[in-house]
Amino acid sequence: KAFEHIIVETRGKVGVITLNRPKMLNALSFGVFGEIATAVDDLEANDSIGCIVLTGNEKAFAAGADIKEMQPKGFIEMFSNDFIAIRGDRVATCRKPTVAAVSGYALGGGCELAMMCDIIIASDTAKFGQPEITLGTIPGIGGTQRLTRAIGKSKAMDLCLTGRMMDAAEAERSGLVSRIVPSDKLMSEVMTIAEKIAEMSLPAAEMAKRAINRAFETPLSEGLQVERDLFRSTFALEDRLEGMAAFIEKRKPANKNR
Ligand code: HXC
Repeated sequence: KAFEHIIVETRGKVGVITLNRPKMLNALSFGVFGEIATAVDDLEANDSIGCIVLTGNEKAFAAGADIKEMQPKGFIEMFSNDFIAIRGDRVATCRKPTVAAVSGYALGGGCELAMMCDIIIASDTAKFGQPEITLGTIPGIGGTQRLTRAIGKSKAMDLCLTGRMMDAAEAERSGLVSRIVPSDKLMSEVMTIAEKIAEMSLPAAEMAKRAINRAFETPLSEGLQVERDLFRSTFALEDRLEGMAAFIEKRKPANKNR
């Protein structure tokens, strides 16, 4: 498919979506969100893909929603053609594992988009923030919710009320980011991680992801029950039988994603 604002590639079992509006620091227009949604649809439907990477460029993952596009809009336009209508949350609903590779600015909608991914890997130049307050608005696609769950109330309030940026070290310390890597190694490290995930049994990875995501939606007892049911379900997988046999026979498992 031809995309205007993003580049989509498959590298082995990994699908890579690269935001490609460098002159605007990858500002997320409605069109960009729509293209990301289509790319996720395609990669999710592609049986040879086991992990999806979302990235930007060295200077910016994404500096937020496109302020020039948003500025003239009124309530009814944003209400009836909002970020949900354009499937702006498509990355969050993806069944397959997703990794955000963040270098430079991840601000506003950019930070929110990164937080829709399962794992955030940051380069040492990464800067995260929710500066919407400085524009007289607030986060609109998960910033007040996912950030609060990721880093706690005090820091989420700090970021959303002052609009300040958080560097990679603070983001890792706070639990937003799982690892920091040197800027020039970001993509190679992220590809290593994504390839490793893509080698696993895909249904098992999807079950692990689904179980972890339940932790955000349910009381502990309910989440534990979901985990137990999914754990038992893995005993219906050929990959589970093969994985355990391979361990016992001291060899690598040959996953069939079944
Ligand atoms: C539109 C943007 C943009 C954005 C940058 N640009 N961010 N255009 N929307 N979010 C454009 C600039 O206008 C400029 O275009 C070019 O990209 C380069 O940016 P500069 O500002 O010149 O770069 P620099 O001085 O390095 O500053 C980088 C920056 C700054 C600190 C990241 O660009 C910035 O503050 N951007 C806005 C960040 C922000 O407020 N994001 C939240 C958006 S609201 P020209 O044509 O002048 O060269 C939001 C709501 C989410 O995300 C709701 C749900 C999705």
